Amino acid sequence: MALGKDFISVKNLSREDIELVLDTAKKIEEMPREKQAEIAKNKILAALFFEPSTRTRLSFESAMLRLGGGVIGFADPSMSSVKKGETLADTARMAAGYSDIIAMRHPEAGSAKIAADAVDVPVINGGDGSNQHPTQTMLDLYTIRKEFGKLDGLNIALLGDLKYGRTVHSLSYALAQFPGKQYFISHESLAMPEEYKEYLKEHGVEFVETGELSSVVSELDVLYCTRVQKERFPNEEEYNKVKDAFIVGADSLKEAKDSLIVMHPLPRVNELLEDVDATPHARYFQQAKNGVPVRQALISLLLKLKI
Ligand code: CP
Repeated sequence: MALGKDFISVKNLSREDIELVLDTAKKIEEMPREKQAEIAKNKILAALFFEPSTRTRLSFESAMLRLGGGVIGFADPSMSSVKKGETLADTARMAAGYSDIIAMRHPEAGSAKIAADAVDVPVINGGDGSNQHPTQTMLDLYTIRKEFGKLDGLNIALLGDLKYGRTVHSLSYALAQFPGKQYFISHESLAMPEEYKEYLKEHGVEFVETGELSSVVSELDVLYCTRVQKERFPNEEEYNKVKDAFIVGADSLKEAKDSLIVMHPLPRVNELLEDVDATPHARYFQQAKNGVPVRQALISLLLKLKI
């Protein structure tokens, strides 16, 4: 396995690494619960969440508990010694002394790497600013592969906040390992940053940019919607200018293939209307649920546990 000590970025993962994670998740998901609960007996996960989360934190906790391990950590850094000025590296060192593996989320890009470099235990990046969200990407790919039985040859559109959205940054990198076409649909001020497009060019990946969903919707296999990341904007005025640039509803999908799936990392605000939930295209709730087996797989692989 080439995964390494930590799981910080998708950028350097090979196709084989990704397939190993997805195959392991499938294997664990198909195991009886009693067998799952033997895998990480006596191991402890420290969940250090310096930024709000529902899905990532709860599914990491659920994953470790289902593996038979225990969980410590915080969801509110103001109740930890961070409030007294303790550094991230020192906080990580303390957590490493009390646990076997760390999952963390932090508002600063590069923070997961800082923590990983400070400790000997594996560190998993649960989202670092607008940089990366690699475990989200693994569950996104798991969801797509479950649906289509493959990751190759698909037309996958990333829509919404492509500038600040860490989920689409990680997903675009990972999809570069699988031949297919990427569509970037956004307001021009929230376009996919150059570094990601350069990466795709270097890897010979076909992509198109457009400001209109309607012009491409009939070509798509996957429509991956994202929230405009209010918390990353310099001020509310800038956010208000683009917050409603894309609103996807059932009406937007009239020309879509029957087999199109709509995904969203969630939470949604108003960019994905609830009338999509009742269409056969909606997959975002199953997608979030897939976070548990995928995070069980990552914990098991990084701790080199017997599965
Ligand atoms: N998808 C995701 O990261 O959700 P949370 O912010 O709730 O963890």
